[in-house]
Amino acid sequence: MNETLKSFLEGLDGLTLECEARRGQACSLKDLDALRVEFLGRKGKLAEAMTALVRMGPEEKPVAGRKANEVKAELTALLESRQAELEAAGAQGALAGFDPSLPGRRPAPGSLHPVTLAMQEICEVLTGLGFEVVAGPEVENDWNNFEALNMPPDHPARDMQDTLYISDSVVLRTHTSPLQVRTMLSRRPPVAVIAPGKVYRRDSDITHTPMFHQIEGLLVDKSVSMADLRGTLTAFVRQLFSADTRVRFRPSFFPFTEPSAEVDISCMLCGGSGYIKTDPCRVCKKTGWVEILGCGMVDPNVFRAVGYDPEEFTGFAFGLGVERVAMLKYGIGDLRMFFENDVRFLEQFS
Ligand code: DAH
Repeated sequence: MNETLKSFLEGLDGLTLECEARRGQACSLKDLDALRVEFLGRKGKLAEAMTALVRMGPEEKPVAGRKANEVKAELTALLESRQAELEAAGAQGALAGFDPSLPGRRPAPGSLHPVTLAMQEICEVLTGLGFEVVAGPEVENDWNNFEALNMPPDHPARDMQDTLYISDSVVLRTHTSPLQVRTMLSRRPPVAVIAPGKVYRRDSDITHTPMFHQIEGLLVDKSVSMADLRGTLTAFVRQLFSADTRVRFRPSFFPFTEPSAEVDISCMLCGGSGYIKTDPCRVCKKTGWVEILGCGMVDPNVFRAVGYDPEEFTGFAFGLGVERVAMLKYGIGDLRMFFENDVRFLEQFS
């Protein structure tokens, strides 16, 4: 065999042996990379050995080339198996500080929002009194939200509500009262329904938020009287707050009821005295009473709008703000707490 070829082949076998001996000394992926460059890089040992190829004749060249390819594959395999060893050791190293006996992190359990809780409690009491829960859309047409409720386009009562308009005739409902209209359009008396839900107004300050929650109530039948209204609402607030809560009906005005009233209950913080020891009560502002809802006898014009005969039927309606009830029931002093979603506040209701 040609001398050049012989020493070339021996040299290549030497490369494999050397790599086999040195790969164990590579103790990190960085070391191993340096080794790869040294043997297989563009200016590495294998590349250098291959420069001898140009000095070979046509007989030797293919033999030398084949051997070079074999050695390249051997070197690659040697380095790759070392890489796998190093990676496995690294993973074990990461596990070395792991103590499986330590307690895990518990996921914090969620809790119902106080507004949801108040809503549920109110609905529970009222369904217990025989009312059925109904629902309707938050995007409402002008007719259901205003006109059928005895508020024609030029009615001054529309000023009472700062309305968010979607278009000239479509609004975000400003109250849950359109559910009175929707219910009466789809049913004949007797009806006894409540409608809990979100309502929207263009209002935002310390005591007003652009979205809040109301619950509407409606009862229509033959010969429903103001006495039924008083009896029902008195039973309702006494179940919701406490049996010794005092209730008073104060004359008021709403376009969709006649007569209308606002209901006050004795302040639960100061017990109705207006003072806590000698300090004026901050909840009722010394009056001993807090307002909790609006109500009245359904106006005959509302009955006419939905096709009920006001000579045949009478009824009462009421509407209450859920945030207000939640503030009174849970002693929350600031409306904004409901919407900040601070977990330190919310988790107190779990
Ligand atoms: N819709 C009224 C409001 O948002 C609340 C209300 C008052 C509803 C009297 C009623 C009612 O059904 O009879 O201010």
